[in-house]
Amino acid sequence: MKEVRPVASEPRIALAHPMIGDDEKRAVMDVLDSGQLAQGPVVAAFEEAFARWIGVEHAIAVSSGTAGLHLALLAHGVGSGDEVITTPFTFIASANAVLFTGATPVFVDVEPDTFCIDPALVEAAITTRTRAILPVHLYGHPAAMTELSAIARRHRLVLIEDACQAHGATVGGRKVGALGHTAVFSLYPTKNMTSAEGGFVTTDDAAIAGAIRSLRQHGESERYHHEELGYNYRMTDVAAAIGRAQLARVDAFNAARRRHAGVLSKGLAGLDGLTTPVERSGYAHVYHQYTLRIAEGREGLRSRLAARGIASGVYYPVPVHRQPVYARRGYDRQSFPVAERMAREVLSIPVHPALNDADLERIVRVVREEPEE
Ligand SMILES: Cc1ncc(COP(=O)(O)O)c(C=O)c1O
Repeated sequence: MKEVRPVASEPRIALAHPMIGDDEKRAVMDVLDSGQLAQGPVVAAFEEAFARWIGVEHAIAVSSGTAGLHLALLAHGVGSGDEVITTPFTFIASANAVLFTGATPVFVDVEPDTFCIDPALVEAAITTRTRAILPVHLYGHPAAMTELSAIARRHRLVLIEDACQAHGATVGGRKVGALGHTAVFSLYPTKNMTSAEGGFVTTDDAAIAGAIRSLRQHGESERYHHEELGYNYRMTDVAAAIGRAQLARVDAFNAARRRHAGVLSKGLAGLDGLTTPVERSGYAHVYHQYTLRIAEGREGLRSRLAARGIASGVYYPVPVHRQPVYARRGYDRQSFPVAERMAREVLSIPVHPALNDADLERIVRVVREEPEE
C-alpha cells in the first residue's frame, strides 16, 4: 500500500454532521421561554406534521426509536411465547425491542445487495408462534416491502417497519412508515433528521395509535387512571422544537444525500473488489449511510482514509446473533452467512448534507489511491 501523508491544511471530514441552524435554535429558545418543557403543544404539532409528511393518519412521538419499537410490538400484542422474524444485520435495538416484550427474535439472513432481510427466506422461518415480521430499512434503503407485505397478508402476520434509518425513503413513490401496519423512526443526532433524542411510531390504525399513546404515558386512560403497565417514553417539547424545524428541511437534506451518493458512486465505479450501494428499481434510497463492500483490505482503506482526516464507520462489525447478549441465549449456534460476510466487508464513508464538492472529490481520490493534483 502506498503511504498517504496527512496534509496539515485539510479539514477533517466527519461521518455525520447534525444540521442545526438558526430555526432549530430559535424554536428551542421559544420553548424554553414558554415554560412548558415536557410533552405539550409543540409535540402535538410535530406529530401532526410528521404524520402528514409520511402520509399516515397517526404519528406518535416517543423518547427514542428503541422506545417506539418496544411500544409498537406491545401495541400489536406481541409478548411471551410469540416469535418475531427480523434481521441479524442491524443495530441491536431492533432485536432488543423484541426481547423487551418477552417474545423471541427469529433471525433470517439478508440480501447482499440491499443488506436488508431476504424475503425469499422469510416464509421458511414462519411457525405457529410467529406473530410479526420486523424488517429494517438499513442505511436508508427500504427492505423488500412488496414481497414482505404479500407474505404478511398470506400468513396473517403483523408487519412492523424499523424505519429508524430511512426517513423519506420510498417504495413505488410511497414513503416508508406507511407501508406496513406500523412503523418506527429514530431521531438520534446522526439520523437523516434529528430531535437530539426522539422517535416516532406511525400507523393508520386508530386503536394501535391509542394504545401507543397510553403506553408511552404509564398506561394512562385519563389523568392518573392507569389501565395497564406502561412507561415514560414521552418526547419533550424541547426535542420536538428541534425536530419540527428539521422536518421543514429533511427533503433538502435527503436530496443532498442522494446527490452526494451519486457523485461517490460515479467516482468509485469500476474499482476491483469494491461494490458501491445499489438502489432497487422503484425504491428510493435516502443514504442514511453510504456503504461500500470491500472484498479484501477494509482495514487498510480505513487507515488510509483516517490518515487523510476522513472518518469512516463499520455498521455493524458483529451481527446481532453473535453479540454476547444473544450468544448467551444460544443464537451464536446459528449461522447467517450473508450477514456474517457483510459484517466483514461493509464500510460506510461520509455522505451527509454538509459535504461540499471538494470533500467528495477528496474522498473519491483517497479511496482510489490517487495523488492530489
Ligand atoms: C435500525 C435501527 N433501529 C433502531 C434504532 C434505535 O433508535 P434510537 O437510537 O433512537 O433508540 C436505531 C438507531 O440507532 C437504528 O439504527
